[in-house]
Amino acid sequence: MNKEINGKAKIIGIIGKDIENSLSPLIHNQIILKHSLNFCYLPFQVAETNLGKAIQGIKALNIKGVNITFPYKEKVIKFLDKVEESAHKIGAVNTIVNNKGILIGYNTDVIGFKRSLQEDEEFVIKKKKVVIFGAGGAARGVIYALLEEGIEEICIFNRTLEKAKKIKQDFSSFFPESSIYVFLLEEENLKNKIERAHLIVNTTSLGMPPKIDNTPLSDEKFFHPDLLVYDLIYHPAKTLFLRQAEKAGAKIINGLPMLVYQGIESFYLWTGLKPEGKEVLKMIKRIT
Ligand code: ATR
Repeated sequence: MNKEINGKAKIIGIIGKDIENSLSPLIHNQIILKHSLNFCYLPFQVAETNLGKAIQGIKALNIKGVNITFPYKEKVIKFLDKVEESAHKIGAVNTIVNNKGILIGYNTDVIGFKRSLQEDEEFVIKKKKVVIFGAGGAARGVIYALLEEGIEEICIFNRTLEKAKKIKQDFSSFFPESSIYVFLLEEENLKNKIERAHLIVNTTSLGMPPKIDNTPLSDEKFFHPDLLVYDLIYHPAKTLFLRQAEKAGAKIINGLPMLVYQGIESFYLWTGLKPEGKEVLKMIKRIT
């Protein structure tokens, strides 16, 4: 938040269900402060029954834009005036821009996820095999990013099989070169799929507070040292999922780099200013 905020200040923020632990307000307000912008980024905790009213409120209150987080990335679409082409294909929106009373949805998770994998981990996605836990709005962004980069095989494991099937149905025709398989979360096939995988990504909320002992992978023996194990959760910084993976010798990454990289893309859409992602990441790591 700018220290000298005045009546001309523009409001941006984040809408989610449980956002007390979100680092987005800190990230964005630090950027605003550094560049002396007359903006302020606020957390909006919204119950599902109020989601439509909250989105209408963006227009009513002349809010410049918001991020959308768990669990509303898919549910929010029906309340928007327009959805940018790739966000429409993905079926999930994590950023809304209020353009003179027209609400437009974008998905910056895709670029955020790609940068975190390719730049921070130097992970080459092309021709690799991945296991994804979850089939919600965050999973859609991650899966789309992997398909765009030419992943060979994606195995989606989810509690609700129908949602995984819908992703396969929505994405397969755009990316015929890649294979997508879907399974129930507790499927016996999991061990075999992880043995063959190069990357595992948790996009579910399992491991978030208050139930920090939850993990999507019931048997930690399935982890192996040739894996990169990625958890989109960044609070706690090391979920049980990541701790078990690390113990097995796997390389691990949490959700903080992706949060920063998707955040700066959203920030650019609202302000026209694009901060250097790696610098922001360094600064956030230093102060958290
Ligand atoms: P987001 O927008 O952050 O992706 P979401 O769309 O609600 O949020 O997706 C949450 C994901 O976490 C889903 O894959 C969900 O599984 P379902 O599709 O079966 O709902 C998964 N998830 C949440 N709580 C879970 C639980 N207790 N056990 C297993 N999976 C869970």
